[in-house]
Amino acid sequence: MAARVAILVSGGGSNMLALIDSMTGDHPARPALVLSNDPAAPALARAQARGVTVAAVDHRPYGADRAAFEAQLLRPLMAVRPDIVCLAGFMRVLTGEFVARWQGRMLNIHPSLLPLHKGLHTHRRALQAGDTEHGCSVHEVTAALDDGPILGQARLQVQPDDTAETLAARVLTLEHRLYPAVLRRFAGGDRTRLDLV
Ligand code: GRF
Repeated sequence: MAARVAILVSGGGSNMLALIDSMTGDHPARPALVLSNDPAAPALARAQARGVTVAAVDHRPYGADRAAFEAQLLRPLMAVRPDIVCLAGFMRVLTGEFVARWQGRMLNIHPSLLPLHKGLHTHRRALQAGDTEHGCSVHEVTAALDDGPILGQARLQVQPDDTAETLAARVLTLEHRLYPAVLRRFAGGDRTRLDLV
């Protein structure tokens, strides 16, 4: 029986697409839901075009009440009973209580070589820090932001003429290779770290 994967998105969903398109054939997982905090997220139409069930819970009416938002976010998730939850460009911070429901079964992709540059604006910060290497990380989600066990990394050499924009584009290409590779391994029960070269 294939593992059921729910993917949480906020925007374009390029990582979501890479994950969906990878879950075919003898892959041990299949997409069960794409869920967004933004009903207008382009990712939703892109998932529907691939026949994946979608849902959205607008976070804005809940303001700072994260628990109230998450109580609604939980409903479509519980309806599909995911074995694995993948955050893919999901831009809301989740509470420890919510994360605890999928402890050890929730993954995220972050555009830096963690533990470097947790949080936002990672490409600009890598340039400002003079990093010669940069890249992306897939990690297990824990209550602490961008802090869980690392399951995979992909890295590149920062070029002298790189800007935050060119770096973001090059890292995104790495993300689209790394996340599907880690998910396939993880869904097959293998948590050994994957370093893409
Ligand atoms: C990208 O900046 C990516 O680095 C990060 O989330 C953002 C949107 O990704 N993981 P996506 O195209 O929505 O997957």
